[in-house]
Amino acid sequence: MATYDYGLMIGMMMAIFFTSLVFADPDLLQDVCVADLTSGVKINGFACKSNISAGDFFFAGLSKPGLTNNTFGATVTPASVQQIPGLNTLGVSMARVDFAPGGINPPHTHPRATEIVFVLEGELDVGFITTENKLFSKTIKKGEIFTFPRGLIHFQINNGKVHAAAIAAFNSQLPGTQRVANALFASSPTVDDVVLSKAFLIGTQEVETIKSKFAPNK
Ligand SMILES: *[C@@H]1O[C@H](CO)[C@@H](O)[C@H](O)[C@H]1NC(C)=O
Ligand SMILES: *[C@@H]1O[C@H](CO)[C@@H](O)[C@H](O)[C@H]1NC(C)=O
Repeated sequence: MATYDYGLMIGMMMAIFFTSLVFADPDLLQDVCVADLTSGVKINGFACKSNISAGDFFFAGLSKPGLTNNTFGATVTPASVQQIPGLNTLGVSMARVDFAPGGINPPHTHPRATEIVFVLEGELDVGFITTENKLFSKTIKKGEIFTFPRGLIHFQINNGKVHAAAIAAFNSQLPGTQRVANALFASSPTVDDVVLSKAFLIGTQEVETIKSKFAPNK
């Protein structure tokens, strides 16, 4: 191979590398590619369907508060490609999070997206932790915004006395959510007690106690 070809190859690799740094989801190659959520074709994203309409780009599910009478006193209502098939290949999505007083959206990560939250009502204490274990936290009020960088562990809690709600936007059609506690203590099959005992510097009995409080895969 000539020196010239190596230069070209390195250039192409750099282009691919920087493109993947700029966009959370791959760039699109056509106007629309409305997801055929029922297709068995496995690709990076979803196969496109041909008979599309305005309804494929519409979702009313964030217009009302989600129920908050659950264990954590909070509900996330996603508006991703699974609810809005028209988002396929567009690299964006949203969610609404509702919080009862004291409600928490427990520590979690979105492996494929940066998140930006806008407080609709109430007040939230929010924060994220960097890979150097530095916490960035803040109290945000109605109309204010906070950002959670892609992949970093973050949380939101309503320490106020009234209902709180936020709208989240993501730079991925399907950001993915991994709750830290659920991933470690409620996986299926379960992570061995000895792993968690050694990782958290606690006894296996304490591991069992935590595991028993989480229903597997919930
Ligand atoms: C396309 O979808 C609409 C409903 O969204 C349906 O009424 C119509 O029959 C469909 N057309 C074809 C060719 O499948
Ligand atoms: C939450 O409230 C709704 C309606 O108010 C009710 O249907 C549902 O059963 C409740 N869920 C729990 C877990 O209490």
